[in-house]
This record gives sequence, structure tokens and C-alpha cells, in this order.
Amino acid sequence: MSEHLRETRRRRTFAIVSHPDAGKTTLTEKLLLFGGAIQMAGSVKGRKAARHATSDWMALEKERGISVTSSVMQFPYEGRIVNLLDTPGHADFGEDTYRVLTAVDSALMVIDVAKGVEERTIKLMEVCRLRDTPIMSFINKLDREGKEPIDLLDEVERVLGIQCAPVTWPIGMGSRLKGVVHLITGEVHLYEPGRNFTRQDSTIFASIDDPGLEARIGANMLADLRDELELVQGASHPFDKDAYLAGRQTPVFFGSAVNNFGVQLLLDFFVEHAPSPKPRATTTREVSPDEETFSGFVFKIQANMDPQHRDRVAFLRVCSGRFDAGMKALQTRIGKEVKLANALTFMASDREIVETAYPGDVIGIHNHGTISIGDSFSVGEALNFTGIPNFAPELFRRARLRDPLKLKQLQKGLAQLSEEGATQFFRPLMSNDLILGAVGTLQFDVVAYRLKDEYGVDASFDQVQIATARWVHCDDAKKLEEFREKNAMNLALDAAGELVYLAPSRVNLQLAQERAPAVRFSATREHA
Ligand code: G4P
Repeated sequence: MSEHLRETRRRRTFAIVSHPDAGKTTLTEKLLLFGGAIQMAGSVKGRKAARHATSDWMALEKERGISVTSSVMQFPYEGRIVNLLDTPGHADFGEDTYRVLTAVDSALMVIDVAKGVEERTIKLMEVCRLRDTPIMSFINKLDREGKEPIDLLDEVERVLGIQCAPVTWPIGMGSRLKGVVHLITGEVHLYEPGRNFTRQDSTIFASIDDPGLEARIGANMLADLRDELELVQGASHPFDKDAYLAGRQTPVFFGSAVNNFGVQLLLDFFVEHAPSPKPRATTTREVSPDEETFSGFVFKIQANMDPQHRDRVAFLRVCSGRFDAGMKALQTRIGKEVKLANALTFMASDREIVETAYPGDVIGIHNHGTISIGDSFSVGEALNFTGIPNFAPELFRRARLRDPLKLKQLQKGLAQLSEEGATQFFRPLMSNDLILGAVGTLQFDVVAYRLKDEYGVDASFDQVQIATARWVHCDDAKKLEEFREKNAMNLALDAAGELVYLAPSRVNLQLAQERAPAVRFSATREHA
């Protein structure tokens, strides 16, 4: 096998999807510990603390710098290279969170055993569905009382519409938690207070028939366990790798992140079965990661620490070939060859200057606003990757200027900030309003803050009667014109000049769709 193939096949690039407080940060720390990046553990937690202080803008500013480094965490494990892409989750939840999911090959869903499937998990799963991303699940906080495991699987299947294949099964819960059974190997891993639960530091029985197990958990519990396992095996699906890879089935693990229990079983299974980098679609053809010529796309832009410099880091996912520091590549959108100097890599221990990167890796490129989300880079052949869309915002505000003379600056600021992708900016056809759309509320505060700080514009944001947005397309120019005339009140142009329907309510959207069957309403927009 060539070095390129070997490096590509051992990459695992994924993100964690969860509702806030399910345990994503804690699980991330434990995964990093297994990857040998011990010093990082504290800083993940520290960032979380800063994140809760949403109204403290100095903290936010400081955090911008930190979050560049922890946006991507790379660590080696069992001969694999794992890339964990952070999905901002608390107040900083936003379109970036969705778009990160377009740059991964698989995802890990964390569910709180007491809360089950929560609202944000549902949304994030919808995004995973767009590309049939394979998903593994970790049911967390088994050291506390929660829902019955079998009911939880049922809930996941029902609410998220994905088949569950339990790989581990809990023995007890809360104060009665005794361990987990691995349904594929048959091994029993005991839960004992004070352990670290690495393979070396666990009590493991080869099967539930091991006489030692009865001595540890008692005859009654063992009998209950046998009954339960019979029930589970009858009622659930066995792990089917093809179904997992197609996004139809999720392997499920049980554990307690804070106690590091059940985490290594998950990680071992993950590196073995999760997909290595997959082929990616472009406007002209599919690009295989096995190809030796470099290509990649930008899925996230982040303003850097120093606002005076308007310096930005573009996060590029490598799709094929090898990145070498200082190499030149064609930036397809502008049709120019650019030098990719000073790229950053994101080893979990620290941010470092990268020399080489392979498919599945993410590199950070410094630039001054010349790179946009969705930009493709390639060597030789011009390629344009698809599937890195804008997502319809879910929250809307009307920008209001305190000083009307600053309109030009406001427009410029909004346009530039929307290029970073955290917010979108719409101009209604029938008014001079400037409408801002976002997926998370914090973004409006960030925009107001940055408009003042970087553009000297004092603006505030008012509530506006818009529930959701859809990009509209129609192959029949006449019908589109008709639609445009009839619905001008609700139509706007986005920053790229594309036509968008801003629906005052969900019901209104439904009616508009019914009345114009020839018009396609899309909840995502591909970058041009
Ligand atoms: P998030 O990133 O998904 O938002 O969740 P995070 O890991 O921060 O966890 C949320 C809370 O749940 C934290 O408590 C964390 O300690 C706790 N937690 C995580 N895993 C487990 C677990 O397996 N069992 C139990 N019982 N709790 C768990 P906190 O009180 O918000 O913070 P802290 O002060 O305890 O760190």
C-alpha cells in the first residue's frame, strides 16, 4: 500500500452531536486522554466555562482565540489518526455547528440517559441525514437513574428514525450500576468506584457465564440480566456494518463519561468501524480520497483574535492528495493560484504549524477575507466541491441604526460578517430593511458587538415577524416571475443575490408552497 493510501485509510474524521449538558465536553476530554493529550483535558473544560458567560464580551473576545485551537482536535489512537471537529453547542450554537457536519465522515451522538432525545439532537440529526452520515450513539450518565435502556432505544428509533444496534448493554443503573456487557465479544466490564476504566485498569470477565460475575453482582441480578439480554437480543437489531455506513443504523453504547466508564469500548469500536475519508462530490465529478493530487474545501471561517487586522482563519478539509506547507493551489471561485503558506494544524496538545496533511485532516489558513465558506482548492484540475451549504436561519432581526449616516458602513459590515458564515443578511425586495438571520441567538449579540468594534457602527436589532426562510428556484422563468410578483412582500435577496422567501409563519410557508407547485423551496443553499 502506498504511503498516501495508508495515511488516508487510518484517518477517522468525526464530530459529536448532542443537546447541551448531555456530556459532549466531558466525553471529548476522555477521548483526548486516550489519545495521550492529557494536558488538553483541562482546557476543554475551561473553554466551556468561558462559553457560559455569554454577556461578557471580553471573555468572548478572548475565547475567539482559544476556540480556533480547539475547533479541531487531532490525536493518534491504536494506529489511527482521529480528527475530532468541535460542534459549538451552548449559546454559540449556530450555522457553523451545522456546517461542521458537512466536513466529517461520521458522527457520535451523545444522549443523556435521563433526558433521552432532545430538541437540538433532533436538528443535528436532520443535518447528518443530508449526507447519510454514519452515527454511533453513546447513552451517558448511567451512574444516575434514567429511562429504561430498552425504552431509550425505542425512543431513538421512533424520534430519530434510525435503527438501533446495542453494542454494549448496562447491568443496572444509578447506584445499582454494575457494569456493561459487550454484546459482540460477550465480555463483561465491571463498574467499580475509583477506577479509571482503561483496558488495563478494569475487571473484565470473558462472559456472563464466568463464575466470578455471580460473586460480584449476585444471583438475582445475574438472573435478571440473562432475561433482559434475551429480550434485547430478540427485540433489537444486531450490528450491521453496511446499515451503519449507510446511516440507517446506529450502534449504541452505554456508559458514564465523567467516570470514564464505557468510553474506551466506544473508542475501540469507533476506530475499527467508523469510515475513513469518503469520496466527495464536485460539480464535475466525484473525487476519491485515494487520488494523489491535492484538493479540499473550506467549511468554516473564523475571525482571529486581533480585530484590527481583520485576520481570519479558514478551515479547510483535505479531500484528496497531500497538503505540503507552502504549496500552491487553485482557488476555484476566483480562478487564481494561491500559495497556502503558514497553514495550521490542530494537534490536541497545541496548535502547530503543519508540514503535511492527508485526506480527512483539517488545516487552518490565514487570510484577510479573500477566502469564503464553500471555497474549493485544488491542484491542476479546477474542482468545485458541493454539499457545503448555507442553512436556512431560524431566527431573524431587523438592523436599526442609531446614526442614519452610517448606512454604508452598516451594509459593508453586515456583508463582511455574513461572509464568515455565522449570520446571513437579507434585503427585502419591497423595503430598505436590512434583515439578519441566524441559527443561534448569540450571533446577533456578536454582530452588534463587532459592528461597533470593527466598523464603528452603533446598531441594534429588533424583533421581526419572520419564522423561517427558503431559497426559491424555478426552471420556468415565467412561473418564477409570476411567483415573484405575487409574493414580492415576502421575498428578499441574500448576500449572494439569490432569491429567498421570508415566511412570516410556518403555515404561511406551507400555503405558499401549495399555491406554487412549480417553485422549489429549499432549506439550504449551495455556495456558488
Ligand atoms: P456538554 O458539553 O454536552 O454541554 O456537557 P458537559 O460535558 O459539560 O456535561 C454537563 C454536565 O454533566 C457536567 O456537570 C458534567 O460533569 C456532567 N456529566 C457528564 N458526564 C456525566 C456522567 O457520566 N455522569 C454524571 N452524573 N454527570 C455527568 P456540571 O455540573 O454542569 O459541571 P461540573 O461542574 O460537574 O463539571
